[in-house]
Amino acid sequence: MMQRRQRVDNKKTVQQQFGGQQTIHGYATSTVHAHGQSLQRLACFIQPQPTWYVLDVATGAGHTAHLFAPRVSQVIATDITPGMLAKAAELAARLGLTNVQTRLADAESLPFDDNTFDLLTCRLAFHHFPQSQQVLAEFARVLKSGGTLGFTDNIVVPDKKAAAYYNAYERLRDPSHHWVYPLPRLRKMMAAAGLTVITIDQLSKEFEFHKWADRQNVSPANREKLLLLMRNIPAALKLLFAPRWEDDTMYFNLWEAVIIAQK
Ligand SMILES: C[S@@+](CC[C@H](N)C(=O)[O-])C[C@H]1O[C@@H](n2cnc3c(N)ncnc32)[C@H](O)[C@@H]1O
Repeated sequence: MMQRRQRVDNKKTVQQQFGGQQTIHGYATSTVHAHGQSLQRLACFIQPQPTWYVLDVATGAGHTAHLFAPRVSQVIATDITPGMLAKAAELAARLGLTNVQTRLADAESLPFDDNTFDLLTCRLAFHHFPQSQQVLAEFARVLKSGGTLGFTDNIVVPDKKAAAYYNAYERLRDPSHHWVYPLPRLRKMMAAAGLTVITIDQLSKEFEFHKWADRQNVSPANREKLLLLMRNIPAALKLLFAPRWEDDTMYFNLWEAVIIAQK
C-alpha cells in the first residue's frame, strides 16, 4: 500500500516537474535533448524499415520520435506529462510529420498489446522510473519477437557511494529523479527482462550549470547546495564530472550510454 502510494506520488512529482511551460520549452530547445550525440548514435545503430511500427516511451518534446518518423510507417509517442505530449505534437506538425501520434501512457504499464512494435525507443528517461525492472518487462512485452530496443540514459560508475552521491545531486535538482544505474546493472536488468544487448556505446556531454538548473526551475538555495556538492565531489566521480569553473559559472560532464537490444 505504502509503495503504491509512493509510486503515485512519484508520478505526480514527474508531472509537476515536467508540466511547467519553462521546463517544456527548455526540453524542446535544449541542445542535449534536441541535438544530442545519442540521437545520432541511435540513428546510426538502428536501420529502421518503412513498414515499422514504433513506440517512443517518455518522449518529452518528442525528439527521438521525430528522428525516426520520416523512415518508418508510424510512431506512437507516449509520456506521462500532458504538456510534454502537446509540445511533441506541435513540433511534429511543424516538421510536417503526419505519422506521429501522441498518447498519454505510464511507462510502467503500457496500454498496448503484446508483440506490437518493431522498434521501441526510450531516451534519457529511465532514471525517472521507480519500477525500472517492470518498465523493461513492459518494453519486452510490447516488442515483437526480434524487435529492437533503442535505449539511452545517463550512467554512473559502479561504486555504491559514488552512485548515491551522484543520484542525490540529480534529485536535488529534480525531485522526480529516481536512480541512474551503472552500465553492468543495466545490462543485467535487460537480460532479466529477456532483452539481448547487441550494441553498447558511451558518450560524455558537457553542461553549463545554470542552463541545466533552469530546465528544472532550481531555487537559488538549491543551486548553492549543488555547486557546493560539485566542489566536494568524491574522487570516484571527479573524472566523470570533470567540473571546471569559468566566467562566474561551472561546466561539468555527464556520461550517457546508448544500448541497442533485441527481443
Ligand atoms: C528528459 S525527458 C525525456 C527526453 C526525451 N525522451 C528526448 O529524447 O528528448 C523525461 C520525460 O520522462 C517522462 N516520464 C517520467 N516518468 C514517466 C513515466 N512513468 N511514464 C512515462 N513518462 C514518464 C517525463 O514526463 C518527461 O517528459
